[in-house]
Amino acid sequence: MSSSAPTAPLRPHAEQNYADELAALATADDRPRPPGWRLSPWAVTRYILGGTLDDGTVISPKYIGARRVVEVAVATLATDRALLLLGVPGTAKTWLSEHLAAAIAGDSTLLVQGTAGTAEEAIRYGWNYARLLAEGPSEAAMVPSPVMTAMAEGRLARVEELTRIPSDVQDALITVLSEKTLPVPELGTEVQARRGFNIIATANDRDRGVNDLSSALRRRFNTVVLPVPRTVEEEVDIITRRVADLGRSLELPEVPAGMTEIRRIVTVFRELRGGVTEDGQSKVKSPSGTLSTAEAISVVTNGMALAAHFGDGTLRPADVAAGIHGAVVQDPVSDGVVWREYLETVVRERDGWQDFYRACRETGR
Ligand SMILES: Nc1ncnc2c1ncn2[C@@H]1O[C@H](COP(=O)(O)OP(=O)(O)OP(=O)(O)O)[C@@H](O)[C@H]1O
Ligand SMILES: [Mg+2]
Repeated sequence: MSSSAPTAPLRPHAEQNYADELAALATADDRPRPPGWRLSPWAVTRYILGGTLDDGTVISPKYIGARRVVEVAVATLATDRALLLLGVPGTAKTWLSEHLAAAIAGDSTLLVQGTAGTAEEAIRYGWNYARLLAEGPSEAAMVPSPVMTAMAEGRLARVEELTRIPSDVQDALITVLSEKTLPVPELGTEVQARRGFNIIATANDRDRGVNDLSSALRRRFNTVVLPVPRTVEEEVDIITRRVADLGRSLELPEVPAGMTEIRRIVTVFRELRGGVTEDGQSKVKSPSGTLSTAEAISVVTNGMALAAHFGDGTLRPADVAAGIHGAVVQDPVSDGVVWREYLETVVRERDGWQDFYRACRETGR
């Protein structure tokens, strides 16, 4: 096991983690860059989707999915419209937004986390009250929001879970996006957005309706829907790559990728999500959880930690059974019934799945 310094950050930002790739792309990139951008749209797309540069530098794929989705997202950010990434949980909305900000602005940290309690100060600015009382309103007493900083520096601001933010607070974004300015009446000034400024917001399909976007705000965003992986192969590919990345950054002992178990988890999740078996032959009931790709990634990562530290170093059914059970059975009563029925009617009968069936039965007790 390699051992990096214990003081290294647990989770470096994308622009730190992939600094080498971003530098290589900047060198190779001879296409026009929109004002304020670190890279051209072509190079940003290459960074996101991966590939090999002429000088042999390998760019790892970050987002796995349709090229067009990424192109539309990148092109939107070069216009005066903001970008809204929409999708069910675990479709890489947050992940893509971080990488877009890292590649375009070199900084993914200007982040507003949307919650029901998000206040206007998080989008506009607040005050350092000690200074405000001592000195009166001044620029030094002002606490800029990430959005204000992004405007002043011509960078990208990220707004996570936009639809969870109360609508009157959301509306603070309207002036920002339409006038590209943030007035500061207390000082009689304003912050005008510099070129390169834009906003990437994410929102969850399921939260929609909580605080549905006002039409005035919606008109200022281009919406890009991130789809769930189309096929088992695509989902297995996403999970395998992300698990390898995570294993490296957590410095887990090497565990062979365990393709059999990954494939099984994906099959189980897809069947339960879709309400039908892969062969289309039998209907199954869906549990209440989302069973997203993101959850499959953590089931596998946990399984690898179990296998590495307590098992024989190979990912086995017993290492993933507890994780699957936890993801499927969110409500112990109703989901418990769904899961047992699925185990008895589908898993038990399936060729080559007996060890998996037994491991899941053991865990469910
Ligand atoms: N198509 C994909 N390509 C690459 N990684 C993916 C893909 N889909 C999911 N992932 C992985 O899933 C994990 C979770 O993604 P993320 O947190 O961005 O989801 P999200 O859409 O923001 O979900 P939520 O709605 O719960 O916030 C990330 O580690 C990401 O790498
Ligand atoms: Mg998210």
